[in-house]
Amino acid sequence: MNIVNFTVNGVVRQAEASPDMVLLDYLRGTLQLTGAKQSCDKKGQCGACTVIVDEKAVKSCLRKVVDLEGSSVLTVEGLGTPDNPHLIQEAFVLSGAIQCGFCTPGMIMAVKALLDNNPNPTLPEIKRALARNLCRCTGYIKIIDAIKLAGKLMRHETTPDQIRAGYTKKGIIGVPHPRPSAMLKACGAAEFTADVKVKGAAEIAVVHSTEHHAIIKSIDSSYALKMPGVIGIMTAADIKGTNRIRVVIPDQPVLCEDRVRLLGDPIAIIAAETRDQARAAAAAVKVEYERLPAMMTPQEALAPGAKQIHNQWPNLYISQPLLRGDTEKAFTESAAVVEADFTTQINHQAPMEPEASVAYLDGDGEDAQLVITGRSINIHGHKSQLAESLGCKNVRYKEAFAGGQFGIKLAITTEALAGAAALHFKRPICYVPSLTESMLLTSKRHPFYMKVKLGADKNGRLTAYTNDMTIGKGAYLLYGVGPMNRAIHMLTAGYYIPNLQAMARVVFTNNAYGGAARGAGPPQTSFALESAINLLAEKLGIDPLEIRRINALQAGQPKATGQVVKQWEFAAICDMIKPHYERAKKDAAAFNASAGVTKRGVGVAGHSFGIGMSGDRAKLSIELDSDDGLTIYAAVADPGEGSDSMLSQLAAHVLEIPLNRIRLFTRDTNGTVAMGAAAGSRMTFMAGGALVNALEQLKKAMAESGSKTCDGLKQAGKPTRYDGYFQLEGDGKLDPTTGQGSSFQSDVHNVQLVELEVNIETG
Ligand code: FES
Repeated sequence: MNIVNFTVNGVVRQAEASPDMVLLDYLRGTLQLTGAKQSCDKKGQCGACTVIVDEKAVKSCLRKVVDLEGSSVLTVEGLGTPDNPHLIQEAFVLSGAIQCGFCTPGMIMAVKALLDNNPNPTLPEIKRALARNLCRCTGYIKIIDAIKLAGKLMRHETTPDQIRAGYTKKGIIGVPHPRPSAMLKACGAAEFTADVKVKGAAEIAVVHSTEHHAIIKSIDSSYALKMPGVIGIMTAADIKGTNRIRVVIPDQPVLCEDRVRLLGDPIAIIAAETRDQARAAAAAVKVEYERLPAMMTPQEALAPGAKQIHNQWPNLYISQPLLRGDTEKAFTESAAVVEADFTTQINHQAPMEPEASVAYLDGDGEDAQLVITGRSINIHGHKSQLAESLGCKNVRYKEAFAGGQFGIKLAITTEALAGAAALHFKRPICYVPSLTESMLLTSKRHPFYMKVKLGADKNGRLTAYTNDMTIGKGAYLLYGVGPMNRAIHMLTAGYYIPNLQAMARVVFTNNAYGGAARGAGPPQTSFALESAINLLAEKLGIDPLEIRRINALQAGQPKATGQVVKQWEFAAICDMIKPHYERAKKDAAAFNASAGVTKRGVGVAGHSFGIGMSGDRAKLSIELDSDDGLTIYAAVADPGEGSDSMLSQLAAHVLEIPLNRIRLFTRDTNGTVAMGAAAGSRMTFMAGGALVNALEQLKKAMAESGSKTCDGLKQAGKPTRYDGYFQLEGDGKLDPTTGQGSSFQSDVHNVQLVELEVNIETG
């Protein structure tokens, strides 16, 4: 151990540091300063841990504490606080540069170092300074805006109050307002799961399968159990519940019993006093396997004689046809027909925050409640899954701030592992997996294999479309029927196509299991259809934007599954983008006339996306507080997309009160009721609908009592708390032979334009 003297946020510190101790661990572990985050596996790749050392921005996961003698360290906590923020923190909040906020503290520290050295940086200088700070949510545009604003504030060209005054003049809805949690995130004070401190917590690490498909012959933990700090090991036999996470079917084990079905499947949990000790011991557990055939694609899993991956369910789990009109006849009568095969790949959703979970027992004996903290986007649904799989009826789920999710948190894995360990070892448990483990444990985007055929008449009017699709489910079903049905519901995207034939199959494989991932299902089928439309446009000599516009669905026409639409803005959006498209084509033609090896192309593609499946429902409560502010009780996750703002702005708008009078209680199963998942872009429509319903009841009571105050309502004998409901008509079910049925109640549309330069010699 070395004794190292330095300052952190102006306070003199004397650290006892091993040669390999890094500053990030000292800050987060010893000083409990959790503003600096860890996303990558301490490889200096993400920038979330950026702090300032001796006036330079550094990755604290790479800087050794032993090298800090005499240094001065500044972390985000030392820059400003929510009550007294630094101007850079103000600028990030005011510019809307903070979504999930996981990258924000590191980003802000990189900006501080930049502006201290260069008060008025150019755009290339800003980009260079941020080159090693990743943000998954924002797309950087707002961050760059924030840096420009921070420069102006620091050069005294404007003030935060002047910026705020500009907002409040314009109203509540449709204008920018700082997000409710933005300042906490800007100051590193928002608690993400790995920041949650539980006294006496043990750390766990998981033994993951190193095989894609195998029988577990034996688990030897004899050496691991003797390693320093190890508390114990648990396997499937130690779980009291079903040990099966049931989303639709009970197919996913919390810990594998006798068989692994994909690389990384969890087999055993090691608990130890420190994370490093747990990881070292997990690596020392020996698992003996008997290999089974690994079927990584649906084609392999459907081959004659293929081994069944789940004893209870066939590899072809389910299929759904769609049938409308006569595609054969329509193709024969078409002026042009194109055919092509398309494959989409597995994607990781890649949120910045790894899948951390915390679990502990609150209380003793039979009455003890298992409290789990994670970043679920469906806390009540996940609470039920945890209760059944772990055999614990009394479960409470608390959602921490979430470092993005992009669909990944519609499935729980680490929560079940942490919960199982808390119950078994009777200790509070912290599970902070490495990024590598996170990759192994989580769902991914489903790969689709599609064979499509598309026809049109001589004027470019689409006549018929077929899509024969096979969906690689991976090892576990999760919501696997959902992406298939969604792909069928949105098969024709923004267009009207009179004759349709499709078949969708969901097939188990030994690959990573598919889950939600930015619109599970429809983006894959839309990619195939848009590509086929381009091929058809080329064959017919029709402009790619024009063929899209003339085939746009119109009010009164049916979507793929038969639901007739009342409103459809796709053609209008084609018209809106046309001037930009024409300009881009002209620019490309001029550019390509010059003799260079770089050539420019212009592309368009469109999409229509359904929101609010028929039959969907939502419920929440509101309460007028004693100080006449309003609290919204709703299980509405906000992992960065802005649900908190949506709820606050809607309530403030309807009640005509300032935003700061609205309070949110949204992240706890205690105090809220089931709302469904914050997925499929449904929350504004569904939770927003339920909120408006509750607000209307409150407004009616206010009108009847002649008072807008809590006391006034009480004196008039009116309740101060109201439940809001929102339910959509229909049931969303598809006819099993024709695929027809009621569908999404609201749709969003987009057309995208790309201008691309390619070096035609090098690609
Ligand atoms: Fe940057 Fe979420 S706001 S990663």
